[in-house]
Amino acid sequence: MDFAERRAHAVEALAAEGVFDDDDHPLIGVLDRDEVGARIRELHDAFDGPGERLHTVAAKAATLVPVLRWFAEAGMGCEVASPGELAMALEAGFDPSRIVFDSPAKTPTELRHALELGANLNIDNVQELDRIDRLRTTVHGPGSTAEPGPGPASTPSTRAPSIGFRINPQTGSGGIEAMSTASHTSKFGVGLADPGAREMLVQAYAERPWLNQVHVHSGSQGMALDQIASGVAAVHDLAEEINARVGHRQVDRIDIGGGLPVNFTSEETDPTFHRYREAIEDAVPGLFDGRYTVTTEFGRSLLAKAGTIVARVEYVKHIGGRQVVITHAGAQVATRTAFAPESWPLRVSLHAPDGRFRGTTSAHDTRADGEPGSTPAPSLATDSATGPALRSDVAGPCCFSGDLLAQDVDLPAAEPGDLVAVHDTGAYYFSTPFSYNALPRPEVRGYEVGADGRVQWEPVRAAQSVGEILAESGGK
Ligand SMILES: Cc1ncc(COP(=O)(O)O)c(C=O)c1O
Repeated sequence: MDFAERRAHAVEALAAEGVFDDDDHPLIGVLDRDEVGARIRELHDAFDGPGERLHTVAAKAATLVPVLRWFAEAGMGCEVASPGELAMALEAGFDPSRIVFDSPAKTPTELRHALELGANLNIDNVQELDRIDRLRTTVHGPGSTAEPGPGPASTPSTRAPSIGFRINPQTGSGGIEAMSTASHTSKFGVGLADPGAREMLVQAYAERPWLNQVHVHSGSQGMALDQIASGVAAVHDLAEEINARVGHRQVDRIDIGGGLPVNFTSEETDPTFHRYREAIEDAVPGLFDGRYTVTTEFGRSLLAKAGTIVARVEYVKHIGGRQVVITHAGAQVATRTAFAPESWPLRVSLHAPDGRFRGTTSAHDTRADGEPGSTPAPSLATDSATGPALRSDVAGPCCFSGDLLAQDVDLPAAEPGDLVAVHDTGAYYFSTPFSYNALPRPEVRGYEVGADGRVQWEPVRAAQSVGEILAESGGK
């Protein structure tokens, strides 16, 4: 059974259970555990070979403790970028030595905590390095040393598994500027091509034998594989230069970040982790020769395809020649899509109230609207009962016009009580809600589907109640 079939079973099971009859919570986010497991296996297979690996999941992609626990149980690590994410990772059961702490704005308290825990640290800038130098003289814990920070090569190395700089390779932006972190002026890390930066870095490592890692993350979604690979090549070169300068292999870990893009336009998983590995290996053959421990920090590519938002259709209107399908899923669970729809297109399928599939959105062909040289609109994969496709918008409940999940798409005629399933939303969607209009965070569940189509649910997060919203809004 492939994941589209499993998703269909899940939608029907939710409908049969009456989940969408609850007026307080007519939407839910669900995650297919088998799909997540398949992505984890593919990642490990793709990076197989000599040398050690530390595959971490980027917590920001799914800030849900039970979901992070799936990754801990699979033997992975966790990349975190805030005290909340760090607390979630610890609660999910990750050993601190398998936690990587990023963030461009770490406070002294956060740095102290990470050093005491013995988590891996990616240093964002020179001011942060100064703080770590000072903290290392006082902190007592796995990440500490009795010796002053900067010191001779004989300084005992820290027990923290790895500490090093985040490097901005300044190799350029990808297709989504806001997600690109390798532009010349990105706020992250030390700009490698900036005047004096390279020499400053080599010197900083030479003076601190405990700096043993370099890190790069060129961006998320919209990055071409060769762009990601050229960022990795830049930090690999830097590691080789530092090691040549100090005369031994001080830098023995390279953290290559995440950022493998996800295909939101079809069911296909493309590009795969295997293609990613090939692209990196072509550009940096030395990375996988066994001399370096390679750390990864994938998020979206591990989780997106596994997730679906399912919501009830409340009303269906016809305005200006458009079918407007008003649902309960909008900017509060699909924030990026609502605010930047060109960069974050989503597919939505329409289901009958009992969960039966009726059709999936497809791009509306404007040439079919009677213009000269027009051709018929592409046909929809619908069942025969649904009739012709209508030019449609799928809208959410928020009070602004851009609150749309899909705009100007073809969809069969919908009715109140139907359901919509929003595909590929397992990362950065329902797990990363936006509290506009004080809409509640929806319930989240994991699921597995047996060979007989029976769906087994696992609770992940309860829906937020109005009382909880009131309490966190300063109410009584
Ligand atoms: C430092 C870092 N690592 C990893 C990730 C995860 O990226 P993705 O979900 O695209 O794999 C991000 C995302 O913003 C990041 O900033």
